[in-house]
Amino acid sequence: MSAQFKHVALIMDGNGRWAKKQNQERTFGHSSGSENVREIAIAANELGIEVLTLYAFSTENWKRPMDEVKFLMKLPEIFFAKFLQELMEKNIRIQTIGELDAFPNDTQKVLLRAIEATKHNTGMILCFAMNYGGKREILLAAKQFAEDLNHGKISMLADEEIFESYLMTKDYPPVDVCIRTSGEQRLSNFLLWQLAYAELVFVPEAWPEFTPERFKEVLTQTADRERRFGGI
Ligand code: IPE
Ligand code: IPE
Ligand code: MG
Repeated sequence: MSAQFKHVALIMDGNGRWAKKQNQERTFGHSSGSENVREIAIAANELGIEVLTLYAFSTENWKRPMDEVKFLMKLPEIFFAKFLQELMEKNIRIQTIGELDAFPNDTQKVLLRAIEATKHNTGMILCFAMNYGGKREILLAAKQFAEDLNHGKISMLADEEIFESYLMTKDYPPVDVCIRTSGEQRLSNFLLWQLAYAELVFVPEAWPEFTPERFKEVLTQTADRERRFGGI
């Protein structure tokens, strides 16, 4: 069905509003959202998707109240303590994009341990975008590109494919579909280069209530879209 989609990207939005609607703290939404990562990752792996990239923390999310940022930094530890073994058993490989060095040491360690533990797995890549911003990624790529140009490592004739090899997603296939939950219709600085020809899907459900069934339904519906890539 959706096996034709190799790379699916997800903007997991709406945790805070979902929690508030039930008179809970925003952090409750983030906890529930992190449980849902397990559900959706397992479903995506079963569908034969090669890479699932999840927007977990943006370069702009540092603007949030310190308590909320701190809570979000703790989530990887809780998530992997609960689910790493199961992800291992499902042959899922953990990776990240974004600048992890801005995170507390403990958070970095937990992420690096999960990456290391799953590095020989051959199933789906579950990629967390953490302290990730599309503009920042393109800027870093451009700087390295310019340096390599200066040193004669690449030529002035370098094309888009060569530029892409400087992006954090260099090892991944192009993004086929990007789904954003919670009804907002914007990219919020996610994968700006990579989404150039992706199918965009905006769903009203908040991330914690976005079920594997809905995920599959959305992918099936999107598979019916005709992708023309500028042709006819
Ligand atoms: C998405 O949910 C999670 C992160 C951005 C970390 P939000 O926290 O943005 O929830 P809303 O959009 O405020 O409801
Ligand atoms: C985008 O959601 C970032 C993540 C899902 C990690 P935000 O909630 O931060 O986006 P805005 O602020 O509504 O654009
Ligand atoms: Mg939001």
